[in-house]
Amino acid sequence: MTNKYMYFIANWKMYGNTKSLNTLDKVIKFSKSKEINKGRLIYCPPFTLLSSFSKKFQNCLIDIGAQNCHESNDYGPHTGFINSKMLKNVGANYVIIGHSENREKGETDKIINQKIQSAIKAKLKIIFCIGETLKQKKNGKTKSVLRKQIKYGLNKISKKTNLFIAYEPVWSIGTGKIPKMKDLEQTVKFIKSNFKEKKPKILYGGSVNPNNIKYLKTIKELDGFLIGGASQNSKKFIDIVKKTYN
Ligand code: 13P
Repeated sequence: MTNKYMYFIANWKMYGNTKSLNTLDKVIKFSKSKEINKGRLIYCPPFTLLSSFSKKFQNCLIDIGAQNCHESNDYGPHTGFINSKMLKNVGANYVIIGHSENREKGETDKIINQKIQSAIKAKLKIIFCIGETLKQKKNGKTKSVLRKQIKYGLNKISKKTNLFIAYEPVWSIGTGKIPKMKDLEQTVKFIKSNFKEKKPKILYGGSVNPNNIKYLKTIKELDGFLIGGASQNSKKFIDIVKKTYN
């Protein structure tokens, strides 16, 4: 049982359409109940649904985030892209940056760093994703990979920035596998040790579900979870929250 203020962030990835809005009623009702008075629910739907989610959550405390942004904070000729000002304009308060699914497609630490800078200018809160691949883990490179992602991703970013770091081992995303609790505990401590001044909030992401949350919630240093697949099912999402507190 935890008494800590925890963040439950739903990353819907490239799923969802206007019909999905109906599935949120259950979560809205839950968000108003006493069971969640110690935590924060945040939905990161695809860009196309940001505006409707924002309207849907008008009268409750559920917050909204986007899944990415362009590295430029200005308007400009970038066909198919969206900047952080535009996200703020439709109600987003958070943005996920550096997700491994984008890193895999060529998003570099440098671009990630520029995106973080632009999101700070737009006053978005940043959910900065880091994590090692299976190969890197097997080669004992986890710490050096994370250190590098933190160093370059956060280059010249003010130490005072309000940051969420989502530790998402790439081999855990969508696979049903989660790290051994001892390893996870050490990794979370290691991530925090990279910050001398203001410590970021640390989230875990990768196959979080209503069954394994009983293990994950035992990691005291965690401030919450970034949840993919299970977050698209309101019942599962609510179960994860409830089980974190029970
Ligand atoms: P899954 O929960 O589906 O493994 O996805 C995790 C994730 O990538 C969240 O950003």
